[in-house]
Amino acid sequence: MESDALWKTTQLTLDRVGPSTLVDQIARHVEVAIAEGALRSGARVPSWRDLAAQLGVARGTVRAAYEKLIDRGLLVAAGSAGTRVAGHLPPAVTSLGPEAEALFPEDFHYRPPQPLVFQMGVPAHDAFPATLWARLYRQWVQSTSLRTGYSDPRGLSELRSAIASHVALARGIECSPEQVIVTTGFRGGLGIALRAIDAVGRQAWVEDPGYPATRYALELSGVHPVAVPVDSDGLVVERGCELGPRAALAVVTPGQQAPSGVALAEHRREQLLRWASARGAWIIEDDYLAELHLSGRSPSALASGPGADRVVHIGTFSKTIAPMVGIGFVIAPLPLARRLIEVATWLSAPPNAALQLALTAFLRDGHYLRHLRRMRRLYGQRRRCLLETLERLGASAARPAGLSVLLPLPTGYDDQRLALDARAADLGPTPLSPWFAAASRSQSGLLLAVANVHERKIDQDCRRLLGMI
Ligand SMILES: Cc1ncc(COP(=O)(O)O)c(C=O)c1O
Repeated sequence: MESDALWKTTQLTLDRVGPSTLVDQIARHVEVAIAEGALRSGARVPSWRDLAAQLGVARGTVRAAYEKLIDRGLLVAAGSAGTRVAGHLPPAVTSLGPEAEALFPEDFHYRPPQPLVFQMGVPAHDAFPATLWARLYRQWVQSTSLRTGYSDPRGLSELRSAIASHVALARGIECSPEQVIVTTGFRGGLGIALRAIDAVGRQAWVEDPGYPATRYALELSGVHPVAVPVDSDGLVVERGCELGPRAALAVVTPGQQAPSGVALAEHRREQLLRWASARGAWIIEDDYLAELHLSGRSPSALASGPGADRVVHIGTFSKTIAPMVGIGFVIAPLPLARRLIEVATWLSAPPNAALQLALTAFLRDGHYLRHLRRMRRLYGQRRRCLLETLERLGASAARPAGLSVLLPLPTGYDDQRLALDARAADLGPTPLSPWFAAASRSQSGLLLAVANVHERKIDQDCRRLLGMI
């Protein structure tokens, strides 16, 4: 059997009675071998025949497992040269391996004290309501009776009520405060949701392209992401059914897809909700950008209508206020909300109580809705200004992509290298290619976030960036 000597296929044992299929188990073993570096880029994996004989399974089973990995860009079929580990592995896989110097997740953890121009994932630095926020925070630190002891693991009841009122108004979600669990942002919510719905070892649909950290977080949690293509109507649900027929959940950004900015079309919403209901699957609705639509009204949340009993809605104040505030929330149907509370109580901790109280006042007294209105206006102006400048400087292929502008690059262009070079020049564009799960489908480009673009400097910043391409 000719394959990379480091990969001991003899250690590959299958569980024939457990819930996971043989195909999934074989695919998972190969994936782990790649992630751990036992199978390196270019290494040949055993032929279907050899591995099937060794494992005592049908050849078709091994073939189906390899096809899954080919689909995800981990393996490539090389004709008579057999099947090999892909030369350019998706970041979520390489980052687990010994050569984990990779750009991901390093790139996503890059946090300069002040945002760089074009940096994604941060709000406008100059528009943060610092004076108001400091007053609210100080007020609660001084007066709070919560200085000692533990605070409610679900989040403070005042904040859960304020969030329930806000989402009813702004996102159309009717829920009681008992269904709201306050978390440390989207990540905190995702972590407890994956545990509460017992997702380990199961498949989860993710958007392709989609927020790379979600794929990475699923992998870290032992959940197998299945990349489902996104088109101009959002997630292509039929492809999800073909690619991940046994998926137990889907993690989606229906309000404003990251990074394309499209909203999930009505017919796709219905299909997705029908799929979840028929399969008893969960939809995790990542509402990160939904309140910051720059053209028209935000679509209502998936958790707001019929079928919401299969939706776990995760909101965050990271982009709308600031990641430093570190507060988000999960809203789930009641039976699941109870399980989420259990998980949150024993496996995570609520955010700082004084910050929760400051946020409560910010929401309750109308500051938040005002702030959202201001931010939408500001980001709309900044996006227009960036697009006009790029057009004037000859980059006419640039187009809006949510709160960013996408600058496409020629196929095969190393956008990650370019982003690193730009960073050395204090510019913070995000490379597009890591947002694709499979290298074979990935497109090259730069995402230029508009939040910290300044009119007086934009010409110079765009010229510097374009000069590097
Ligand atoms: C689509 C999407 N979801 C979630 C997050 C992260 O949210 P949080 O900071 O609350 O974990 C981001 C951050 O960039 C994002 O782009």
